[in-house]
Amino acid sequence: MNVLVLYGTRWGGTEKVAQTIGKALQDEGHVVEVVDVKEAPESIAAYDLILVGSGLRADKWTKESEAFVEKNAAALKAKKLALYVSCSMADRKDEGYNVGKKRYLDDFAAKYSLTPIAMGYFGGLMDFSYSHGLLVDIIVRVNRRNLRKNGLDTASVHDTRDWAAIEAWGHEVAKIAQSTT
Ligand SMILES: Cc1cc2nc3c(=O)[nH]c(=O)nc-3n(C[C@H](O)[C@H](O)[C@H](O)COP(=O)(O)O)c2cc1C
Repeated sequence: MNVLVLYGTRWGGTEKVAQTIGKALQDEGHVVEVVDVKEAPESIAAYDLILVGSGLRADKWTKESEAFVEKNAAALKAKKLALYVSCSMADRKDEGYNVGKKRYLDDFAAKYSLTPIAMGYFGGLMDFSYSHGLLVDIIVRVNRRNLRKNGLDTASVHDTRDWAAIEAWGHEVAKIAQSTT
């Protein structure tokens, strides 16, 4: 199968998620391209299976990844499609876990009337040593103490991307894609 793995990223964390998924699909014998959604091909006609994913900010996919889905919704309906996200809600041990999963995947797919063959929900990367934009940087600086109290120490890197789970999902998508016509 010709496979296109697209990713939307603001701070770079989702790129390696996409590459890990792509490698798993390649290991299953598929021809895989992993592409930043900002450079997505004009037409997706050449692909049998398309995976689209994004990191989250304030409950939103990147604008380019959502714009891609919106623009290509009709074409995606005729393809095998999988969606995935890499975000902090996936790490929650409370109801937030399900809230994020529903909001970022189920509701997102429903918004564009899509029926993905699989959906992946993964942890993300938060590194406050680099800028997240002036406004966010100021908010983080002002709230540093509160954030720490709530378990987010902005002085350290939080990387909860579970590579084994991400890779396993890539293999699972390959299997589901092969078993569906
Ligand atoms: C300012 C900011 C806002 C965020 N908002 C959310 C959010 O609403 N929901 C969520 O699950 N994760 C949120 N996250 C976590 C990111 O989705 C996570 O860091 C992800 O790995 C970012 O991916 P990217 O680096 O590819 O953009 C936020 C992170 C930052 C820095």
